[in-house]
Amino acid sequence: MTSAHWNAAYNSTEFETRSWSQNLPTESLQFISKFPLSSNDPIIDVGGGTSELVDELIEMRFTDLSVLDISSEALQEVRTRLLSKSKDPQVVHWICEDLTQWKPQRTYALWHDRAVFHFLTSRRDQNKYKEVLLNSTISGSYVLIATFSPNGPASCSRLPVTRWSAEDLNVFLADEFMFLEDAQITHNTPWGSTQDFTWASFKRR
Ligand SMILES: C[S@@+](CC[C@H](N)C(=O)[O-])C[C@H]1O[C@@H](n2cnc3c(N)ncnc32)[C@H](O)[C@@H]1O
Repeated sequence: MTSAHWNAAYNSTEFETRSWSQNLPTESLQFISKFPLSSNDPIIDVGGGTSELVDELIEMRFTDLSVLDISSEALQEVRTRLLSKSKDPQVVHWICEDLTQWKPQRTYALWHDRAVFHFLTSRRDQNKYKEVLLNSTISGSYVLIATFSPNGPASCSRLPVTRWSAEDLNVFLADEFMFLEDAQITHNTPWGSTQDFTWASFKRR
């Protein structure tokens, strides 16, 4: 996975024509509402792309927000969108990095990932993700991950994915993270097809 691939993917499409776009990140907000977070708790959206989650979290008065993505184009699009809504993009920490190479400088109370972990198809990259996750969280941190489910598509944006059940995610994370809750949720793409997702939340032991 390269930044060139994702920059091209964002450059050649509009928000409305990306399979993963959501007008409102409903599931994310439903899960997040169940975590006892304070407004100054640090939250990171990894592989955030052009998700409107950050817009919603600003609206909800969270003050320590970070969005990480491999695509500078995606991050620029969100900054422009925030400005168009009279929201200050400078209140967000923008991190343009490959997640598997990233060296976090701090920890977060909430790690949110909708649809990036499933692009890591080798055990090596998946373990790298876990290493970064461990370096980004402390005991008590919450983790929310959404991936394509075993019934979901085998690829996205012309890239292969690994499909995960909640049980698979739990086995992968169980040593360091306590399973909280899962949900099987069907995402409707902008053109009306469906994609089955596994959502699962965890709390670091
Ligand atoms: C399917 S999109 C999901 C975007 C967003 N989370 C959402 O829900 O709309 C996957 C995102 O992950 C980003 N991405 C892919 N591989 C990545 C990596 N290795 N490190 C960081 N971001 C990555 C892509 O640029 C893209 O924005």
